[in-house]
Amino acid sequence: MTLEGTVALVTGASSGIGAATATALASQGAAVALVARRKDRLDALAADITGRGGTALVIEADVTDEARAAETVRHTVATLGRLDTLVNNAGLMLLGPVVDAPLDEWERMVDLNVKGLLYCAHAALPHLLAAAQDGPRRVADMVNVSSVAGRVARTGRGVYNLTKFGVGAFSESLRQEVTRRHVRVSLVEPGMTATELAGHNRPEVLAAMRGAMELEPMRAEDVADAVTWIVTRPRHVAVNEVLIRPTEQE
Ligand SMILES: NC(=O)c1ccc[n+]([C@@H]2O[C@H](COP(=O)([O-])OP(=O)(O)OC[C@H]3O[C@@H](n4cnc5c(N)ncnc54)[C@H](OP(=O)(O)O)[C@@H]3O)[C@@H](O)[C@H]2O)c1
Repeated sequence: MTLEGTVALVTGASSGIGAATATALASQGAAVALVARRKDRLDALAADITGRGGTALVIEADVTDEARAAETVRHTVATLGRLDTLVNNAGLMLLGPVVDAPLDEWERMVDLNVKGLLYCAHAALPHLLAAAQDGPRRVADMVNVSSVAGRVARTGRGVYNLTKFGVGAFSESLRQEVTRRHVRVSLVEPGMTATELAGHNRPEVLAAMRGAMELEPMRAEDVADAVTWIVTRPRHVAVNEVLIRPTEQE
């Protein structure tokens, strides 16, 4: 139980990679704050975690609202006592050509994938720095979930690419800023993973994606494994970046 005595906050914990990551971190002994908008899903996950002897705090919040994002971190620290690990996972992928794209889709992706992540990072950093100084492990972690789309741009993914490339640039800059203070900033870049993510796309976009989706995807638990591995490294080891794809994905 290498995360015993620590507290982790996971955004987008109501489904997919976030839910699997919260479960995995709890199984390592972390108390977990579960953040998303669908409270019923968070309640069910919290019941599962507490049923196995873990500690979970449900926080219904839209992290695109700066005040709610800050309150989420404040509530976590007030209730669970500290913050050692932030997993910035909540994200949205709305694909399709740039030409004639619905502008609201771009705004929703920028609001969540970029601004939501920044709001959570900003609110969490003072607590992560404190945890690195006097916490049980004397190290703290921010794991930012990007994507293969944060490394490789492809037609039909322009604004999703933009948001995830941005997450990568921000993470590397922040890593350099805080690593000497033992806050590790890590980037996880998954390939295709079976979650609800693609399902938010317009029907015509989904139809165009169908061919590309004919491969055996990763499970959310596979990505959660990578996050857990990152945050359980010894204090002197920082895993900066993990690119993880399904074996069949070219
Ligand atoms: N699945 C893949 O193939 C894949 C590949 C590469 C990268 N990723 C990245 O992995 C991350 C997780 O995605 P996923 O695949 O697990 O998709 P998912 O199942 O759709 O999960 C997305 C999560 O984000 C939450 N969320 C959405 N809007 C939110 C908001 N405004 N405030 C708070 N939470 C919000 C959702 O919960 P609510 O709706 O309840 O708020 C949900 O829990 C994303 O950053 C995604 O870009 C996924």
